Amino acid sequence: MKNLNELTHDRLREHVADELDRTRRRSAELTDAVDDEDLVRQHSPLMSPLVWDLAHVGSQEEQWLVRGVGGIEAIRPDIDDLYDAFQHSRADRPQLPLLGPSEARNYIGTVREKVFDLLERTPLEGRELVEQAFAFGMIVQHEQQHDETMLATHQLRDGPPALSAPPPPRAERQGLPAEVFVAGGPFTMGTSAEPWALDNERPAHEVHVDAFYLDTTPVTNGEFRRFIADGGYDQRRWWSEAGWAYRRKADLRSPRFWIRDGGRWMRRRFGHVEPLPDDEPVVHVSFHEAAAYAAWAGKRLPTEAEWEKAARFDPADGRVHRYPWGDADPGPEQANLGQRHLQPAPAGAYPAGAAPCGARQLIGDVWEWTASDFTPYPGFVAFPYREYSEVFFGTEHKVLRGGSFGTDRSACRGTFRNWDFPIRRQIFAGFRCARTPVEG
Ligand SMILES: [Fe+2]
Repeated sequence: MKNLNELTHDRLREHVADELDRTRRRSAELTDAVDDEDLVRQHSPLMSPLVWDLAHVGSQEEQWLVRGVGGIEAIRPDIDDLYDAFQHSRADRPQLPLLGPSEARNYIGTVREKVFDLLERTPLEGRELVEQAFAFGMIVQHEQQHDETMLATHQLRDGPPALSAPPPPRAERQGLPAEVFVAGGPFTMGTSAEPWALDNERPAHEVHVDAFYLDTTPVTNGEFRRFIADGGYDQRRWWSEAGWAYRRKADLRSPRFWIRDGGRWMRRRFGHVEPLPDDEPVVHVSFHEAAAYAAWAGKRLPTEAEWEKAARFDPADGRVHRYPWGDADPGPEQANLGQRHLQPAPAGAYPAGAAPCGARQLIGDVWEWTASDFTPYPGFVAFPYREYSEVFFGTEHKVLRGGSFGTDRSACRGTFRNWDFPIRRQIFAGFRCARTPVEG
């Protein structure tokens, strides 16, 4: 996001309108890529039919902007329940009397027209929900998050490729150290200043982090292949109790979408079957697989605080920044975001996006599992509703950081926290390892 604090209200409205348009184009691209039959089909019990995501995006926009901000009468109060993510599990959603593809498109279009109307005339001050257009920003991020979910559905979908994008930039890993060092000391974690930051990123607070080493890049397919070849999936000792139970129950033998083809590994990616690229960050691994790999490598996963310190803290000025490279919004030079490419870039890419500590690709490419449970920061206040974050706090979910190639820049920043169950594999998640320096 631009520094929204500095924009006049007219400029802020233009910015919101641009973001809404840009986001809707992506939703359209993801849903226009397949036919109506495909839109209503459930491609995996893990996911909703694409047409559910589409109308759900409109339903949330109606509830928060049309009714909440605008105080306008409900357009479709009859469908609130169908698109309430807490009422129906993903597996059950295909059985609901959902809006069909053209109905869903009409509905979200109607909602959007009303939103543009009220954006023109709503004062962007006086209520917490509209300060710096927060509710509009929340809705942009919500739609982008569902776009990433729809992208994951595309990855699970059988059939010929429906999406296309140019390949990511190459990388020169030669000369890059395997690890970077982050000195011990305090830093400011979270934010109280980022206008569109969500409740769980707030407030800013000081955290002490001991010195640690962090992998310069995410763990690659080639590195992960060595873990497999060394019997990593068969050796109990690398796995936590819960991890081993899951590994056995699900009969895990490799990351999801890897295919053993005689002596070599292939992978399926958005309908293409191709040789596994060794230099690309591994993706579609669960927290448990990431933790087992780290143990095998003699390392561990970084805590969330370590990750954020590596990504944001600059020892040169003692300050934290919005992104590893500084405060400027991400561009194509800094990070692989926004479905610009349909895969992670090779490890070592994006030198312009490097953090002060030297770590690369902290933002974009793959979500990175951390060792941390999803818990509130000291001083947390649920806003604007408990169901955004608060109901997910606890030991069930692990935090992921940094965003993937499928994450939009509006829903990704140095403070952004994602969370999921430690067994999840269909998300675009990888990891990097950390290590505590040996004393003496
Ligand atoms: Fe949602």
